[in-house]
Amino acid sequence: METREQWKSSLGFVLAAAGSAVGLGNLWGFAYRASQGGGLAFILLYILIVLVVCLPVLVAEMVLGRSTGKSPLIAPIQAAGNKWQPMGWLFVIASIGILAFYAVLMGWTADTFFHSLFFGLPGNMSEAETFFGSISSGSSVLLGQLLSLILTASVVAAGVRGGIEKLTKWCVPLLFLLLVVLAIWSATLPGTWEGYRTFLLRWDTSEFFNSTTIRNAFTQAFFSLSLGIGVMIAYSSYLDRSKKLPKQALAVASLDTSVGILAGMVTFPIVMSFGLKEAVSSSTVGTLFISLPTGLGTLGITGRIVAILFFALAFLAAITSSISLLEVPVASLMDRLGWSRYKSVLISTGLIFLIGIPSALDLNVLGKMDSIFGGVLLILGGFLLSVLLGWVVPRKFDEDLSSSNSEIRVRRYLKFMLRWVSPPVIAFGLVVSFMDLLKNWS
Ligand code: PHE
Repeated sequence: METREQWKSSLGFVLAAAGSAVGLGNLWGFAYRASQGGGLAFILLYILIVLVVCLPVLVAEMVLGRSTGKSPLIAPIQAAGNKWQPMGWLFVIASIGILAFYAVLMGWTADTFFHSLFFGLPGNMSEAETFFGSISSGSSVLLGQLLSLILTASVVAAGVRGGIEKLTKWCVPLLFLLLVVLAIWSATLPGTWEGYRTFLLRWDTSEFFNSTTIRNAFTQAFFSLSLGIGVMIAYSSYLDRSKKLPKQALAVASLDTSVGILAGMVTFPIVMSFGLKEAVSSSTVGTLFISLPTGLGTLGITGRIVAILFFALAFLAAITSSISLLEVPVASLMDRLGWSRYKSVLISTGLIFLIGIPSALDLNVLGKMDSIFGGVLLILGGFLLSVLLGWVVPRKFDEDLSSSNSEIRVRRYLKFMLRWVSPPVIAFGLVVSFMDLLKNWS
């Protein structure tokens, strides 16, 4: 038996986990879900779900990974027996499904980056539609998707320390810095307040009862935290006992949520300053790739530089997430079939490329895959995790978390939340999301 790889440092683990969390979900997903009209109700629900429901589940997922030292496919069985095998499969299927369309989005991002760099930005809305049409169809999409997957695969093939930790250690701080600079710049635009008010701060009490707003908030919380899909199991299985998980989970969640909000502060003022509100509400998944380049296009060379920076940042954010998605099937194949890392990466990547082709060719398919794999399946994963760690094997917490005085209180709190709060709240979110998905299917 080879010994299991380990992170080099605790910071390395936090940055890798934060890198997984911070991704296109924060930049593209947040913009597109916030633009669907929930306003402040959407934001508040999203933050509330993160704090009350997701944080305990995040620690639970980490505890499951560290205490078993197994891949996402095997960890549930190791913890609670064969009955829990479907949960492992759910993780593997959901991560493959997400990465399949995520790579397509990464291709769009890279394409927009190169376009801004070499050719400049669209000058008006119709040029932007043409531009988006060209990046989201034809052979260039497949090429972008393939190259993004190859890049992802090469990092994962280099291993936990040599690939994942090395990349995320410099990417995540750089990304944060870039985003702060852009948010400050965005705050100086003429439409800033209008943008914040229209998309982020608009108050409408009835939105709290709107099933689409509720689904968006749950989906955004789970997707953005990379939660309920086994990524955190995989990453924590490479972590040693001395690290304090609750603290690290808090760091990851705070980083991720602030990046989400910061990203909204970059995108919405731009959209508003250039009168692109209509474009946002009529297009869904394309929001970021249509309105942002168009808005920036009216600003001459400054706009072009900002676009180049923004889409470079988005690509970095995406790759630190895509590697974590690939690590789920890869670790599982290594664990289950005893394959080498290299072989597992090769086979998983090939499969993911094939599964992603329909979403590369059809925007509708992409939207559907996002709703299923990136939405309800994650919420279901979160529900199962809270039941597993809250009810079936709560002793994992005692075994895994240290027994210093301060941690005992944290542990009690987490166990209480996982038992009594997370399961019913997530079950509610799951049912509402599922019904809403059915309602909006066609
Ligand atoms: N959290 C990532 C993002 O916000 C996406 C992701 C989801 C990554 C699930 C891993 C697992 O873009």
